[in-house]
Amino acid sequence: MTDPISSETHGDIRIIWSDNPPVNAISAAVRQGLVREIEAAESDDAVNAVVIACKGRTFFAGADITEFGKPPIMPWLPEVVDRIEACTKPVVAAIHGTALGGGCEIALGCHYRVALPSAKMGFPEVNLGLLPGAGGTQRAPRVGGVELALQMATTGKPISAQQAYDHGLVDRLIEGDLLQHAVAFAEEVKDIRPLPKSSERQDKVDGVDPSVFEDYKKANAKLFRGDIAPQANLDCIKAATEMPYDKGVMVERTKFMELMSGPQARARQYFFFAERKAAKIDGVDESVEPREIKRVGVIGAGTMGGGISMNFLSAGIPVTIVEMNQDALDRGTGIMLKNYQSTAKKGRMTEEQVGQAMGLLKPSLNFEDLGECDLIIEAVYENMDVKKEIFTRLDGIAKPGAILASNTSYLDVNEIASVTSRPQDVLGLHFFSPANIMKLLEVVRGDKTADDVLVTAMALAKKIRKVAVVAGVCYGFIGNRMLIPRQLQAEKLLLEGATPEQVDRVHVAFGMPMGPFQMADLAGVDIGWHRDPSRIDSIRDALCAIDRWGQKKGAGFYDYDENRRPSPSEKVQAIIDDFAAKKGVEKRDISDQEIVERTLYTMVNEGAKILEEGKAQRASDVDVVWVYGYGWPVYRGGPMHWADAEGLDKIVEGLKRQESRLGEDWSYSQLLLDKAEAGEKFTR
Ligand code: 3HC
Repeated sequence: MTDPISSETHGDIRIIWSDNPPVNAISAAVRQGLVREIEAAESDDAVNAVVIACKGRTFFAGADITEFGKPPIMPWLPEVVDRIEACTKPVVAAIHGTALGGGCEIALGCHYRVALPSAKMGFPEVNLGLLPGAGGTQRAPRVGGVELALQMATTGKPISAQQAYDHGLVDRLIEGDLLQHAVAFAEEVKDIRPLPKSSERQDKVDGVDPSVFEDYKKANAKLFRGDIAPQANLDCIKAATEMPYDKGVMVERTKFMELMSGPQARARQYFFFAERKAAKIDGVDESVEPREIKRVGVIGAGTMGGGISMNFLSAGIPVTIVEMNQDALDRGTGIMLKNYQSTAKKGRMTEEQVGQAMGLLKPSLNFEDLGECDLIIEAVYENMDVKKEIFTRLDGIAKPGAILASNTSYLDVNEIASVTSRPQDVLGLHFFSPANIMKLLEVVRGDKTADDVLVTAMALAKKIRKVAVVAGVCYGFIGNRMLIPRQLQAEKLLLEGATPEQVDRVHVAFGMPMGPFQMADLAGVDIGWHRDPSRIDSIRDALCAIDRWGQKKGAGFYDYDENRRPSPSEKVQAIIDDFAAKKGVEKRDISDQEIVERTLYTMVNEGAKILEEGKAQRASDVDVVWVYGYGWPVYRGGPMHWADAEGLDKIVEGLKRQESRLGEDWSYSQLLLDKAEAGEKFTR
């Protein structure tokens, strides 16, 4: 293995280079090399200052996550950062790309920091269930102030070089050649003594009112719900205001070790790699090139079509959007403009960018206009006949090689493809609502979908900043298919004595953003309803028949006031009781544990079926779908990782306990039974 750390000398300035692609992760060899080179520079009389810089696309992007959970190799990162700070000659960090986690801590250990304006600094450790564990929680508030440190460490979101400069984390922004300017900067400061050490500063941590921390927590309550790492980050930063540096780092170390050995960090670190694995397509050669997509066509300017279009417009890709009549077209494009403007009002976009995005949109009533598009996405309502008619027309209009996609959430993509003369160009692109916001994209691979079509979809997803997961053709694909047993059991539980509030409360306590009934009310209780008020086979039918379609009607499983605040509904309870009586279902007390077993364990069983049928490439893909599509708490890793953590034998035991209540259609996944029996796991 080649040494990732090297050095060169410019006059009396020593440059220590790291070259550890792709992101200069701080592996053992990097840590060892940094200490070696700092010591060499210190003992070389011809050297008066040091610059630490990285080759490739970024400054150190953090500790090497692949080393987590393995036996530690010395020196530890905290020692490396301390060694840099203890250097008797000034050390300057030259930052480009992203100085993240341990990378940001190395920068703070340096006596000075210079950065390109495009650089970013951040503490994403919280996303791995951790905290900056190399003195970062103690140095960051000392240099940048408590509020900035809290924000960086508890949200994990990086800040721009300009923000870093404004708060004193960066000493100079560099226009032009970073290294040249960093060396010139080192020349300027080489004789200044005493050396400015982040750990010795007290001006920004002395006299901080402790209420700052409670206020921050109150204002950001969502961050702290269920997730333990944000609190640990906050506690360490608070410690920086209460005790000397040496004691503060001991608090940091203890809390870091506690987090690292806990299940939440394990789940989050697993998920980091799960997300990256999802982008890889099994059985497709890496040499397959994507098709060029210069213009996208979208059929339907409703909520989905509009949201889908916005993704491409925001990424600078022109969109032709087609509707049946002018009113619908105007309404759709009007909503898109309004959405952009509200983003601009929040400061996340400039008016100019709004103009640019909308300028790329070509609204049209002429289906033939789709002939100019390289990818056409159909986003009309869920009806196989309608979709087939559209794809038949598209087949006659689309240019050769254009990709034809359906945004269906449930329907058979093979059947849709079969009406065209080019099933190899057809696939499903299942966006989640609201499509301009939700990160997940299920890429549905038809039996005949060509490899380069899939590769194009995955590449395009990255361009529009979605997390894409490949799914096979089956009813509901990965995400919605797993919703089916959950919803079925949730409704059965109502008949047996649970209330919508109880079921939802259990799901929210588990960490989901909302429970099954809150979700039904938000999405629309009427989705998938047969539209015949006289046919009442379920509680859902009964609600739809009396216009309780959810939030949009002001009533669903819950009652809503004018501010959309929900309250339990006596009317709904009466419907449930009536329905239960008619079906002869006896009411009993339902425990929270039973709700978990019937609504979550059954989802795991469905996930296992999806895997055994080959409809998901890997268990971790199922987890990515559930985290990004439905808000499964990432600190629980996703349903399959969670099942592994619980123990598959426990899952099977729970299901067996509930077996008699699961319904006639219930069946076990053989894969789940086999793995439980063999003591195996779905994920690693
Ligand atoms: N360690 C090991 N591998 C890493 C890594 C890390 N810290 N960061 C990224 N990688 C790997 C990825 O797994 C990926 O590998 P693959 O190509 O085999 O799939 C490859 O580098 C490229 O990563 P991305 O696909 O994510 O590249 P992007 O350009 O999209 O993003 C990035 C680059 C913004 C640096 C992003 O990779 C990232 O956010 N990385 C994680 C940063 C992080 O969490 N740092 C904190 C680590 S914990 C820490 O420092 C603890 C300390 O406080 C003690």
